[in-house]
Amino acid sequence: MNAGPESAGTRPLPWKEWIGLAAEEPFRILFPLGIFLGAAGVAVWPLFLFWGVAWAPPPVSHPRILIEGFVGSFVVGFLGTSIPRLLEVRPLRRWETGALAGVLLLANALHWFGRTGWGDGLFGGALLFFLWRLAGRLPQRKDNPPPSFLLGLLGVAGAAAGAWLESAAEMGLVLPPPLRNLGLLLLYQGLALLPILGVGAFIFPRFYGLESRESLPAAVVPTRAWLSRALAALCTGLVLFLSFLWEATGGALGGPLLRTGTAVAYLLFAIPIAPELSAKGTVAGCTRWALALAVSGLLFSAFSPVSRTGALHLFFLGGAGLLILTVGARVILGFSGRGELLAARYWPLRQAKWWTIGAVVLRAAADRLPFRRDLLLAGAALLWIGALLIWAWPVLPKVRCPDTEE
Ligand code: HEM
Repeated sequence: MNAGPESAGTRPLPWKEWIGLAAEEPFRILFPLGIFLGAAGVAVWPLFLFWGVAWAPPPVSHPRILIEGFVGSFVVGFLGTSIPRLLEVRPLRRWETGALAGVLLLANALHWFGRTGWGDGLFGGALLFFLWRLAGRLPQRKDNPPPSFLLGLLGVAGAAAGAWLESAAEMGLVLPPPLRNLGLLLLYQGLALLPILGVGAFIFPRFYGLESRESLPAAVVPTRAWLSRALAALCTGLVLFLSFLWEATGGALGGPLLRTGTAVAYLLFAIPIAPELSAKGTVAGCTRWALALAVSGLLFSAFSPVSRTGALHLFFLGGAGLLILTVGARVILGFSGRGELLAARYWPLRQAKWWTIGAVVLRAAADRLPFRRDLLLAGAALLWIGALLIWAWPVLPKVRCPDTEE
């Protein structure tokens, strides 16, 4: 069955009113920003390979803009909207959301123009500012966040440390190579992996109509059940950090293997194995594909030191990229009174999934066929930009529509 008419749901707010709502629900600003940066960060490949246009070497600017721009905007947008709601505290204020959006845009503009040290420094600062503003709300909380969210917040803190290490090195501080490797791993893989596991533990079961084990009865004082699941999240985060340290200090096989095993173990701990996991529907299907690609990417990167980056794109592009589009559609449509569009098939997300998988295939082929590398890289980039456009055209305008109950 196809989803109902696009006209369902609430109507767009006038811009003046929308600004107030978007400040309180930062995904309404940060998801569009993330999509823009997700396209800009891959556009560097065709621009450079076909026309020689580049203000910064693409191997430096591309990963930064994809992680700090695309992934960063979605992580901050999602957590910045959901955590105050879950804690039942004051939402982010206008100046807080404005500062976060402005600094994320500026940091990535600096990356585009090759000012990597400044860009990393600003990005690390934005993440710490975000954590500080959330921490300031804790004393007023009426409930605790789902325990798995600790993992997401650890990922944000680790990425801030990684960005500052990189910034210091770019500014001229001589760091031992293992420390630089660690910084890059915390930033590139940590910012995507830990929030995916932490947030996913809470929401993926719901995508399949299952109860989330991370949804516990409301309580200000942590209960035993909350503490034991929080401890599991904390230990998972620490083992993932250990896997980064191991890889950074030479464990090219052991580090990624430990990471893959830990990620799989945590998913099994969080998501109940049930027949519902084979449910039909676009969201359920995209989540299965993305998790399978993410785990395969982490695993293959352990065994292919030569094409490690290509293998990792199964994780970055097929895993993190596709999950972000899936969760993003769910949030935007759900918060605009259109959640039922995702109950069965939703063609924009379905098409975006196939275009993303096409990009994954071309990106992997680029490492195998060196004589066609430029063409394959540019093709992968164009497919990914196509996936973003197909998704964004019908979904993004709904950030202007309020939820039904508002
Ligand atoms: C679809 C088009 C894409 C193409 C053609 C592409 C291409 C590349 C290439 C060629 C490199 C290696 C740069 C070097 O020489 O060091 C690279 C690195 C990287 N890419 Fe992509 N990429 C794409 C999508 C993505 C996406 C969607 C993400 C993130 C969500 C991403 C994140 C990264 C990261 C983090 C690195 C650095 C990996 C490391 O050094 O550990 N890429 N990409």
